[in-house]
Amino acid sequence: MFKRMLPLALLVAGTLTFSSCKKNDDTPATPSLYTRLGGNAAITKVVNDFAGNVVAETQTANSKLLRTFKPLVDAAKAGDPTRANNLVNNLINQIGQATGGPEKYMGKDMMTAHKGMKITDDEFTALVNELVKALDKNSVPSQEKTELLTILGGLKGQIVGQ
Ligand code: HEM
Repeated sequence: MFKRMLPLALLVAGTLTFSSCKKNDDTPATPSLYTRLGGNAAITKVVNDFAGNVVAETQTANSKLLRTFKPLVDAAKAGDPTRANNLVNNLINQIGQATGGPEKYMGKDMMTAHKGMKITDDEFTALVNELVKALDKNSVPSQEKTELLTILGGLKGQIVGQ
């Protein structure tokens, strides 16, 4: 009888030992950056504000972004926002995917997308500044802002100087 119950006893003892080792497993995991940003709706809002900021910057004297964005801005002004809309949708999906969301980025890789543009450090910074303004307008907290800018900053080498 006792002999037959031994495996059961070992199993119970094992389970107890195992659960007593469980220390930090109950600590809730930090939600993904995607969730903390507010998911697709919040990212869409930020990217649309960002796009608006970029267009506004191209209308200023000594614009740093007009050189590269002129074809998109001119097309949109002429009534064809297709290229601008595609860029916005690509950015939403790219940021969604990169921050842990269900979106799938289907656009070109960063090197190919910026090939031939010879984007400078100064232009890269100018664009990031417009994104920061959009993040601030939407009250994205500094932790999340830093995390997102770090992810995007990591792409700089594939974008500048191509
Ligand atoms: C981390 C920074 C950046 C990210 C994440 C990014 C992302 C993207 C994406 C997703 C595309 C679309 C690719 C496709 O069509 O398949 C794109 C295209 C483009 N990007 Fe960037 N980009 C960045 C920096 C820059 C900078 C600094 C400039 C210029 C100052 C720039 C100018 C452009 C332009 C002009 C296009 C082409 C749009 C078109 O021809 O339709 N990007 N970028």
